[in-house]
Amino acid sequence: MSADATTELEAETTEDAENAVDLRELTHPDPAPASAPTVFDVADLAVYYGAFRAVRDVKLDVVKNDITAFIGPSGCGKTTVLRCFNRMNDLIEGARVEGLLRYHGVDLYGKDVNPVEVRRRIGMVFQKPNPFPKSIFENVAYGPKLAGIKKKAELEEIVEQALRDAALWDEVKDRLQKSALGLSGGQQQRLCIARAIAVRPEVILMDEPCSALDPVATLRIEQLMQELKSEYTIIIVTHNMQQAARVSDRTAFFSVDVDDESGDRTGELVEYDRTEKIFSQPSDRRTEDYVTGRFG
Ligand SMILES: Nc1ncnc2c1ncn2[C@@H]1O[C@H](COP(=O)(O)OP(=O)(O)OP(=O)(O)O)[C@@H](O)[C@H]1O
Ligand SMILES: [Mg+2]
Repeated sequence: MSADATTELEAETTEDAENAVDLRELTHPDPAPASAPTVFDVADLAVYYGAFRAVRDVKLDVVKNDITAFIGPSGCGKTTVLRCFNRMNDLIEGARVEGLLRYHGVDLYGKDVNPVEVRRRIGMVFQKPNPFPKSIFENVAYGPKLAGIKKKAELEEIVEQALRDAALWDEVKDRLQKSALGLSGGQQQRLCIARAIAVRPEVILMDEPCSALDPVATLRIEQLMQELKSEYTIIIVTHNMQQAARVSDRTAFFSVDVDDESGDRTGELVEYDRTEKIFSQPSDRRTEDYVTGRFG
């Protein structure tokens, strides 16, 4: 549908406020407006661990400079799907990815694609802060050094910028040579974000980045994500529904389907839409039950 047609339909909504949501649904059957640049498009994605199919039917577009949240009950495949976006599943024995996952239109699993380069462009921050047992400086300089940057002045500049972007510089600028393990949990997680952005990725994947943090440190990371989204595209897995509602633009809700006969449990993508829609007018009953706390 053209932008003009969209404007016309939205104009109608102001005349008939009660029907506003329904009309918008008609206007945006796909959560990504046609004009928004797509970073990833995913279709028919399924992931297996050996013979076990952990998740199936994943279809979604990730929009540039959006924060996309993955939510759903434990075991529904959020981490499994997240790991597909930078080929981390390659490192897990027995893991196999089926279907299509394209990054800027290029099949991420194509035979000419270099997984090391994929992981440079698409960084990852884990649930538990995992700084290296090295100094704060060396943690952030690690990636750029691997990429071949040797000059001290250049490394210093990169480290400072990454720490500033991760909102950590003021707290650590006088102790850069001290061990990263001496930082608080919230500081360590911001250091891991600095380490991820020091290699100038385009995308940052975050798997429950706040689950080991207290509410103050959590808020700090959420603010940081809002600041980073002008430069990065972020996908975050979270169990915290308020967090998904607060920070994300789009939300994917995953659930576990249990086969009546075999008892097999398979994760699936139930619904993907704008976050406000998922939390106020979900299309699927399972999403509604989950976001209203009736399940999970
Ligand atoms: N390395 C692995 N080997 C075998 N099975 C795995 C592996 N990792 C995950 N699984 C299985 O795949 C399914 C999805 O797991 P996953 O970790 O993706 O779920 P999740 O939604 O991230 O859960 P949680 O919210 O608890 O982190 C689960 O049944 C899990 O047991
Ligand atoms: Mg997980």
